[in-house]
Amino acid sequence: MFSFLNKDQQTGEVAELQLDEQNIPAHIAIIMDGNGRWAQQRHLPRIAGHKQGMNTVKTVAKAASHLGVKVLTLYAFSTENWKRPTAEVNYLMKLPVDFFGTFVPDLVKNNIRVKVMGYTDQLPAATQKAVHDAIEDTKDCTGMVLNFALNYGGRAEIVTAVQSLAQQVQAGQLDPTAIDEARLGQQLMTSDLGDLQDPDLLIRTSGEERLSNFMLWQVAYSEFVFMDLHWPDFDQTTLEQAIYQYQQRHRRFGGLTN
Ligand code: FPP
Repeated sequence: MFSFLNKDQQTGEVAELQLDEQNIPAHIAIIMDGNGRWAQQRHLPRIAGHKQGMNTVKTVAKAASHLGVKVLTLYAFSTENWKRPTAEVNYLMKLPVDFFGTFVPDLVKNNIRVKVMGYTDQLPAATQKAVHDAIEDTKDCTGMVLNFALNYGGRAEIVTAVQSLAQQVQAGQLDPTAIDEARLGQQLMTSDLGDLQDPDLLIRTSGEERLSNFMLWQVAYSEFVFMDLHWPDFDQTTLEQAIYQYQQRHRRFGGLTN
C-alpha cells in the first residue's frame, strides 16, 4: 500500500489515503496544460511557465516510476502548437535539449527508457539530436517508458496509419477485409508499446476538459481525470490523487461487469 496525505479541495480537510499497489494504472497519459497561466499569475513571461513545467516533468517521471507505472506519455508539443509566437515555439524546441542534457543520468539511474512519438523529422536539428541521444542513452533501461509526444497530433497519426494500410492494399500485400482494429493499431506511433499502447488513465491539468487532438484512438476506454491546478504545480501528491480517483472507478470496457 502507498499512502499519501490528501487535502480536500472544497473543505480543506486533510486525510491519509491509501493507494492500491495492485491497481496502479500501467499507462498514464498527461496533457500538461496551464504553463502560460501559471507564469502570467506570477507576472512572469510564458516561457518561465514552460521552464517550471519542465522541472515538473522530472519530478513526475521519477514519482510515476517509483509507483510502478509502466508507461508515462506526456503531451509536450502538438502539431497545432506551431501556431504560437515564434519566440515561444523556439523556446519549446530548446526544452528537450535542456531536459535531456541534464536529466539523462537520472533517467538511467531510475531505469527509465525514453521514447518519442510524433513527426520528429520536422523538428529543428538540435532537438532531433537531443531526442535521438536520449533514446540511445536509455535504450538498455528496462523500467518505465517515458514517452514524449513531440510534434504529435492524434488525427494526423490516424491519417498516416490509414495511408500506410492503403499503400499495402495497393501493393497487393493486404486484403481490405483483413483491416481490423488490431491492424490499424499496429500502424500507430504507440505500436511498439504492445499491450500497453492504450492509456489506462488520462490526466489533464489546468481545469480544461478537452482532448486537444491527443491520442484519439488510444483513449477509447481510458479513465479521464481533470485537475484544477496548472502543470507547474503538479507533483507526486497530485499524481497520487489522480491515481486514487482512477482507483475509485469501475472500468467496464462496454460490458456489464462491476
Ligand atoms: C501547455 O501549457 C503546455 C505546452 C504547450 C508545453 C508543455 C511543455 C512542457 C511542460 C515542458 C516539456 C518538457 C520537455 C522535456 C519536452 P500552455 O502554454 O498552453 O498554458 P496556458 O493554457 O496556460 O497558456
